[in-house]
Amino acid sequence: MTLYLIGLGLNDHKDITVKGLEAIKKSDIIYLENYTSKLNTTQENLERFYGKKIILADRNLVEKKAESVILDEAKTKNVALLIIGDVFGATTHIDLLLRAKKDKITVEIIHNASIISAVGITGLEIYKFGRSISIPFNNINVTSPADRFKNNYENNLHTLFLLDIDPENDKYLTFSEAAEYLIRNGVDKNITAVGCAQIGSRNPLINVDDLKNFKSLKIDKFPQCLIVPAKKLHFIEEEALNLYR
Ligand SMILES: C[S@@+](CC[C@H](N)C(=O)[O-])C[C@H]1O[C@@H](n2cnc3c(N)ncnc32)[C@H](O)[C@@H]1O
Repeated sequence: MTLYLIGLGLNDHKDITVKGLEAIKKSDIIYLENYTSKLNTTQENLERFYGKKIILADRNLVEKKAESVILDEAKTKNVALLIIGDVFGATTHIDLLLRAKKDKITVEIIHNASIISAVGITGLEIYKFGRSISIPFNNINVTSPADRFKNNYENNLHTLFLLDIDPENDKYLTFSEAAEYLIRNGVDKNITAVGCAQIGSRNPLINVDDLKNFKSLKIDKFPQCLIVPAKKLHFIEEEALNLYR
């Protein structure tokens, strides 16, 4: 029996790969990990398109109860865990893979697009990104994201900020809040930033402006991320960013 770890891509039910869909069709139990990112579609649309029932899996189920539920079931059944974006675009799923390997469960991984590479749409070179940095909701006394950013920036690297989400309560940190956080923590308000929302959709939003101007920009499209480009850009990167000013 097999545990399928299947990336769903970035936007909706149609972003799944043919291999991913075939694996779902072969699965007896299908979980959707719904706490590390957000699709722009409903559970009903996914179920209709895949022709299967889906069980929502929260952090507790995937990270704490994996042994007694998902891995246990995968010993006797085909089990699919659907992950928005790519399977390994969030840090948590390698742990499940390691535990499955320890239990001698067969695992098949089916990749898909991730926000980590899809930000290439901005024109910024993927190879020139430094460490990705998460900004949490409760960030009043949190300084490490700003400190890590300064390290990337000093090394002339682009920075991708991944913003906290709470899909259960329909709450998403916005790039405006991220800009406000960075300025509050000593980042120069006049540096250029790139706000992105719903990358992978038909109408993604990409906005290039001074960091300070993001503070008042309210965009009602989720998920969102913020990028701060490196100090020095290649002229092609400059040209691409100008498309979004
Ligand atoms: C843990 S990360 C990404 C996980 C996912 N497995 C992947 O590979 O894309 C989730 C964060 O990435 C950003 N993100 C994900 N999808 C996005 C999208 N389509 N557009 C803009 N930002 C996105 C948001 O900041 C979101 O909170």
